[in-house]
Amino acid sequence: MNMMCGIVGYLGKQKAVPILINGLQRESYRGYDSSGLVIFDNDKTICLKAVGKLDALENKLKDCNIEGTFGLGHVRWATHGGVTEANAHPHSDCHGNIWLVHNGIIENYRELKEGLEKEGHVFSSETDTEVVAHLIEKFFHKNLEEAVRKALRQVRGAYALAIIAKKDPGKIVVARLSSPLLIGITGKKEYLVASDANAIAPYAKKVVNLDDNEIAVITPNDLLILREKQPELLEIESEDAQKKGFPHFMLKEIMEQSETIDNALKGRVLTNQGAARLGGLESVKEKLREIDSIDIIACGTAYHAGLVGEYMLEEYAGISTDVDLASEFRYRKPIFDKKTAVLAISQSGETADTLAALKEAKRKGVQTMGIVNMVGSSVARETDAGVYNRAGAEIGVASTKAFTSQLAILALLTLYLGRQKELSVVTGQRIAKELQLLPGLIKTVLSTSVQIKKLAEKYKDYNNFFYLGRKYNYPVALEGALKLKEISYIHAEGYGAGELKHGPIALIDENFPTIVIAPADSVYEKNISNIEEIKARKGKIIVIATEGDEGIKKLANDVIYIPKTLEMLTPILSVIPLQLFAYHMGVLRGCDVDKPRNLAKSVTVE
Ligand code: G6P
Repeated sequence: MNMMCGIVGYLGKQKAVPILINGLQRESYRGYDSSGLVIFDNDKTICLKAVGKLDALENKLKDCNIEGTFGLGHVRWATHGGVTEANAHPHSDCHGNIWLVHNGIIENYRELKEGLEKEGHVFSSETDTEVVAHLIEKFFHKNLEEAVRKALRQVRGAYALAIIAKKDPGKIVVARLSSPLLIGITGKKEYLVASDANAIAPYAKKVVNLDDNEIAVITPNDLLILREKQPELLEIESEDAQKKGFPHFMLKEIMEQSETIDNALKGRVLTNQGAARLGGLESVKEKLREIDSIDIIACGTAYHAGLVGEYMLEEYAGISTDVDLASEFRYRKPIFDKKTAVLAISQSGETADTLAALKEAKRKGVQTMGIVNMVGSSVARETDAGVYNRAGAEIGVASTKAFTSQLAILALLTLYLGRQKELSVVTGQRIAKELQLLPGLIKTVLSTSVQIKKLAEKYKDYNNFFYLGRKYNYPVALEGALKLKEISYIHAEGYGAGELKHGPIALIDENFPTIVIAPADSVYEKNISNIEEIKARKGKIIVIATEGDEGIKKLANDVIYIPKTLEMLTPILSVIPLQLFAYHMGVLRGCDVDKPRNLAKSVTVE
């Protein structure tokens, strides 16, 4: 089973079913293909499962009047075993005593299963998860938490687990290792459990984030955790999960970017000093003064943000920067010295590869930092210091507002570190001023949405696209192509424009349009040469250009204008038309843009 799934649990006085269903709906943005729940209703155990969307489960619930105030729910995204009801969670032991839901992967499930089968356990699914139910059954006498503790000693892999037992009623036992799990407290003798704060935001006032290797025992009167933790205030507003009138979360999140950039910058830009105030880095300020190189680790869109950060940090902060896919970093043997810091970038703060790479860096004694959106997430807690994005919940699977926010924070970090080194106050002031203009400029870019929709109508039937950019906008080309792939399932390739001649130009013809990000910057003329080369081969060209560049119209089939800003900040503007283009293409082609097929919001398995 996989952590792109979602867990919800409830224990209290209210009917559990509506609370569980609501929680599952609020987790469903993560991507899922089946769902299920189990309720203890007096003497009865009711377990219902359904393949497909949550509606299918709700349909099954229509005719049942379930009074129970105690249960677990789950949305599953298949990894081990096909999409079937048998493989959907909850899973149970041989005798219907132990019931559990799981996110994560039990890596040694085959050997455990073999052993348990030899001992007479009978399995009814193909999942790795079911093995945990049988293992707990093996150790169960009277006390559920004792059995869980013993069982988990034999388990390798990652898990967030919520478990209930018929023979030890009135309690939920939860456990976590490398997969998020939190306990919501309402203050009214009731508790919720979830893998995502969104799920319980309408009910819970406070949350306890479980740490790795912790087991918690929840009863209506008490919450017992192995290591005592103070509840933190739950910062996600429940209305955050609503679409606020937009047809899709993705569009809402694209349209929020003026606000999210404002939030990222608020109180952090010191215009007169040409510097930045980053409270989350204060504790390591002196150590950072010694740093002369940074290794950025991230996945997906966050990786693209890291690539832009590399240009920023090297040009303005004089810090040698490398950017690694976290999934590669964890398997190579990076060489660090005392002057290197590792910077993890992650919207969710739960991406397994990013987390593993981070842990590897920590093991080597390297100074670690994070740029993270989800407050209290694993990356936020594992890093020595960091900066929060304050972008609000991002529900659309394809990342949009988190990306631009990551870029804004990277610019702040550049100012912060640069001013500790050789960045002059005058250049610092210039960056600071331009940063503060961004929210206004973003509004201008967002107003091109109607024009971009028309563009999408014109290009919607093409099946291949190139995205080209150079220097700061090379990562934007990668990100633009990724967005189109994710949302519209159209084949798209992002390239550094200079690479065009080294292979990809062979593909150019009238059926293979190219989007060139060519703002008026230091590589503008190089980009123009590439546009000429494409035109000479009858390739259609869409250009993202700077306002006032009238000449570009002669070369391009279509032009989208963005306002002028500092070169290092152009990606924050130039990516927005590409997000909108992908969005409109996806909608026009009938795709599920908020939950693209096969994708998950937070990839918490390797
Ligand atoms: C998944 C998401 C992407 C995201 C990536 C990294 O693949 O679908 O949108 O960019 O994970 O996620 P993170 O939460 O670490 O930024």
